[in-house]
Amino acid sequence: MEFSVKSGSPEKQRISCVAVGVFESRKLSHSAQILDEASDGYIANLIRRGECEGKLGQTLLLHNVPNTLCDRVLLIGCGREKNFDTGSFQKTNNMVAKFLDERGATEVFSCLTELPIKSRDIAWKVSQAVQATEDALYSFDQLKTVKESTRRPLRKIIFSVPSRRELPDSEQAVRNGMAIASGMTLAKDLANLPGNICTPSYLAEQAKALGKTYRDLKVEILEESDMEELKMGSFLSVSRGSRQPAKLITMEYAGGDKNQKPIVFVGKGVTFDSGGISLKPGAAMDEMKYDMCGAASVIGVMSTCAELQLPINVVGIVPATENLPDGLATKPGDIVTSMSGTTIEILNTDAEGRLILCDALTYAGKYDPHVVIDIATLTGACIIALGNHPSGLMGNHNPLINDLLNAGKISGDRCWELPLWDDYQQQLDSNFADIANIGGKEAGTITAACFLSRFTKKYHWSHLDIAGTAWRSGKQKGATGRPVPLLTQYLLNYIAEQKL
Ligand code: BES
Ligand code: MN
Ligand code: ZN
Repeated sequence: MEFSVKSGSPEKQRISCVAVGVFESRKLSHSAQILDEASDGYIANLIRRGECEGKLGQTLLLHNVPNTLCDRVLLIGCGREKNFDTGSFQKTNNMVAKFLDERGATEVFSCLTELPIKSRDIAWKVSQAVQATEDALYSFDQLKTVKESTRRPLRKIIFSVPSRRELPDSEQAVRNGMAIASGMTLAKDLANLPGNICTPSYLAEQAKALGKTYRDLKVEILEESDMEELKMGSFLSVSRGSRQPAKLITMEYAGGDKNQKPIVFVGKGVTFDSGGISLKPGAAMDEMKYDMCGAASVIGVMSTCAELQLPINVVGIVPATENLPDGLATKPGDIVTSMSGTTIEILNTDAEGRLILCDALTYAGKYDPHVVIDIATLTGACIIALGNHPSGLMGNHNPLINDLLNAGKISGDRCWELPLWDDYQQQLDSNFADIANIGGKEAGTITAACFLSRFTKKYHWSHLDIAGTAWRSGKQKGATGRPVPLLTQYLLNYIAEQKL
């Protein structure tokens, strides 16, 4: 998609479509009013007759509106004006893209960017609109031999900005939005690929390929033999049950000066989670190909950083493995020694995410990080607690938690804090080792984070449980690309605060 920004009056655009908002009930947005005046009340007249109430997501396509230079005017319902927020902004932009893509309008001048949202500026709106558009038009058809194609697809969107003064910021916002969208697309593609294609080796190759594309992104792959040398007994206990070799992928992006401490992301990369010997039930087990969404988001955000040439240092670490019940597989009751020296009694081989993350988190210490954020589809309990709206957030440093909550609000890719209190730690007590890998059925998301907290004492750390947010189930099954927007926003805020 081609995106640009322009300041100009809607009736003067010589283009296949102009999109404008209508609020509930029947209240014209600023640009809709201008079109209405130019056309002597044509639009207000239709609306009065009940053609468009302005309900969120409602659409009405008009042709040859008098005294305008465009072929079509798309009215798009925005819901109640006082409720218009990040979610409605994303939804309306999403609708415009989907609707026009199917109707032969190849170019649109979108005035949705004029709609006021409390404490959001034009740059925010442009970046969000770009992301929502790309998200709307994403499809995964790599593995279909017959592809659905639109005969005359939407190919160009021009966002309206109030005046020429806003052009430079808005152009930068287009670039930001596109880089975030392409990080999300990469994350979605990797996640949507099935486990027989997207193996740990495949993830490693994709990371390597990114390293070839971007000069300041250095990618290194550690093999199982390297991990043995590093004494990653916990990580290796998971890959034992699989014939696909595990990989530890490290991506180092150096955009800042040498003595700037890096922000480190660690992403769970279980390319298929059968549960291992503690085998999962069969229903919907296919969805466990998504158990590498943390990894995908880390790879996605690394590509966004490199694309935007952000002036910071960022490291991405991805422990990648399958979790399968082959003959050598770890058994319930087995005790392993992690890289940190802590011994772990594996009471359930399906709690494998924490077993690979703990060694990756210990490894992260070598970077002397500013902060470490891990991202993982870690617990089904997180979906029970929070559903599909926010990611679960926990950590050992309040300022970092607040920064992530704030980045979530701004990006619309939200997270919500759960209490990582010491009270929960005793649920991990083991009779035979330093800790057990499960903490019973209560507060499963928190005890999983408690487990990780044992390995992150040396630095500021946060954990995002994305089990509910990284993909959608059901008919619209597919990866969401989250939390790439959240993580990128966190980095952009950090850069702005540090005045880098
Ligand atoms: N990958 C799963 C978590 C998961 C389950 C994510 C369903 C999304 C949907 C993880 O490895 C897992 O199996 N966790 C167990 C932990 C339990 C054994 C303590 C779970 O959530 O059931
Ligand atoms: Mn599991
Ligand atoms: Zn898992």
